[in-house]
Amino acid sequence: MIAVTARAHTNIALIKYWGKADAALMLPANSSVSLTLDQFYTDTRVAFSPQLTADTFSLDGVLQTGAAVAKVSRFLDHVRDMADMDLRAQVQSVNHVPTAAGLASSASAYAAMALAASRAAGLQLDHPALTRLARRGSGSASRSIDGGCVIWHRGIDDESSFAEPIAVNPALDLRMIAIVINHHAKKVSSRAGMAETVATSPFFPAWAQTAEANSQEMVAALAGDDFKLVGELAERSALMMHATTLAANPPFTYFQPGTLAALQLVQTMRAQGLPAYTTIDAGPNVKVLTTAEYVDAVADQLARHLDNPITICAPGPAARVLQEETVDD
Ligand code: PMV
Repeated sequence: MIAVTARAHTNIALIKYWGKADAALMLPANSSVSLTLDQFYTDTRVAFSPQLTADTFSLDGVLQTGAAVAKVSRFLDHVRDMADMDLRAQVQSVNHVPTAAGLASSASAYAAMALAASRAAGLQLDHPALTRLARRGSGSASRSIDGGCVIWHRGIDDESSFAEPIAVNPALDLRMIAIVINHHAKKVSSRAGMAETVATSPFFPAWAQTAEANSQEMVAALAGDDFKLVGELAERSALMMHATTLAANPPFTYFQPGTLAALQLVQTMRAQGLPAYTTIDAGPNVKVLTTAEYVDAVADQLARHLDNPITICAPGPAARVLQEETVDD
């Protein structure tokens, strides 16, 4: 048997995925667009073995139990189906995020696992098939198979819901600064939060329709050289996503006081001429989109006015295999 170790970088959506059209197949209600980041990634080693009677999963060296293993096992079932085999696997994942960054992501985790597990099972999936496999673990993981900017096409079935890289005008020279507002685990997971929103928020249909159009607008904007357009689309997509949760029943929000403080600071910086726009996911942390030319000035202002740790990111690379080892059966 071979053991395969793969690395995938996390991504942050510029146009958000928020709500499923089909929960079993993990089909989203709208297409989404993201930027893969160089600073945050997951390394995952997968080895299938006839010696194992159950799948095992360790995260950062700690052996996991219960729901965490069950989730990995369900994902591996897709790989076993595709490879037409029934072996159990040992899965070891290590998240590389700055200490207490609070940015560990299922995107990099399932993208790395999709690549490592498919190769370890003897599969050579083509690019769309690999993104579709990653999608089954976590929707956003479909976008972490590629580097740079990526679109995940909504699609209408398993086959048509895949991700691919988008051409980005080099003149944009994007950068993203991650601000840690709170590194504790979020109270409402993205899975639960979006399900709640789909089921109860009257804003949801308007969100899904607008986000689909915005994804196409973002693809066009990334091909151009107007950073303001890219930034405005991104910031608005995040705020629209968060508006849907405020209208859910019961209403909820991922924002914390520090989230709003960072939003206001970035607005003020913009009024003073710095090109910077915010985006926020299913948690309180804020990411600031800017350009290489202004990233130091923006980081300087953030450090001056906020007490929170920041990490400067550039576009990151595609997922790749780090190592293939032959192991004893
Ligand atoms: O696929 P998940 O469960 O990681 O959901 C991602 C949801 C958001 O991060 C809020 C938006 C996105 O498109 O990444």
